[in-house]
Amino acid sequence: MRDYPFNFNQLKDFSESVPYQKLSTEYKELYQSLKEQESKLNFPAIKNDVGSFINFLFFWHRPKTIFEFGSGYGQSAFWYLLNQDQIEKITLTEKRDDLQTVFNSLNWPNDWIKKIDYNQADAFEVFEAQEGSFDFILIDGVKADYLKFLELCYPKLNKGALVLIDNSYWRGSFLDEEIVTKKKTAANIKKLHEYIQESVQFQSIFIPFEDGVSLLRKID
Ligand SMILES: C[S@@+](CC[C@H](N)C(=O)[O-])C[C@H]1O[C@@H](n2cnc3c(N)ncnc32)[C@H](O)[C@@H]1O
Repeated sequence: MRDYPFNFNQLKDFSESVPYQKLSTEYKELYQSLKEQESKLNFPAIKNDVGSFINFLFFWHRPKTIFEFGSGYGQSAFWYLLNQDQIEKITLTEKRDDLQTVFNSLNWPNDWIKKIDYNQADAFEVFEAQEGSFDFILIDGVKADYLKFLELCYPKLNKGALVLIDNSYWRGSFLDEEIVTKKKTAANIKKLHEYIQESVQFQSIFIPFEDGVSLLRKID
């Protein structure tokens, strides 16, 4: 194991600070409002490094249709839409009934809001009712359901589609379930990683951001 001359928190602070500095002024106000809501609600919103990574990825992937399992008040939509004019539709889902008001209160640019379909509903039900197919899916709801959602979404993924699973490391519980109290969730996360490793349908990489990100590409 290599020894680094800094601690992990210094690294995290560094990667968290960069996105704000690079934002153009027209988006800074919205970004600040999203961050204010995050601390006011103490909400587990998508982290800046993961959001920036998605945005970076989109300059190559150029997704048009996006679905999200677990959206809160829409923080990830900010990272999807930043300088991504090719996007046609983003379907957000959130089962909590207090976050749509927060989403609606935010000052989204007009050309962005037209593309967002916010559903205060269960992601599984919304997904099953979808007629189209998707270029990008973010799995970010209840961890015990990650694998169930991945299996559900497979038939509606376009060739080459990407699926990003946030916090898939979940404190390393899939390696040692004693780390967490929710043993069933740990077992399901373990099954998720086994499924990904064995899958011939997806090419995958694991990125060790804070709590882990799994990135999958549908092969055919
Ligand atoms: C980690 S947060 C999502 C963060 C969000 N992606 C963002 O960008 O800020 C997880 C959210 O998923 C929601 N959730 C969990 N299971 C869900 C389901 N079956 N359908 C819809 N939302 C769900 C939770 O209520 C919670 O607000």
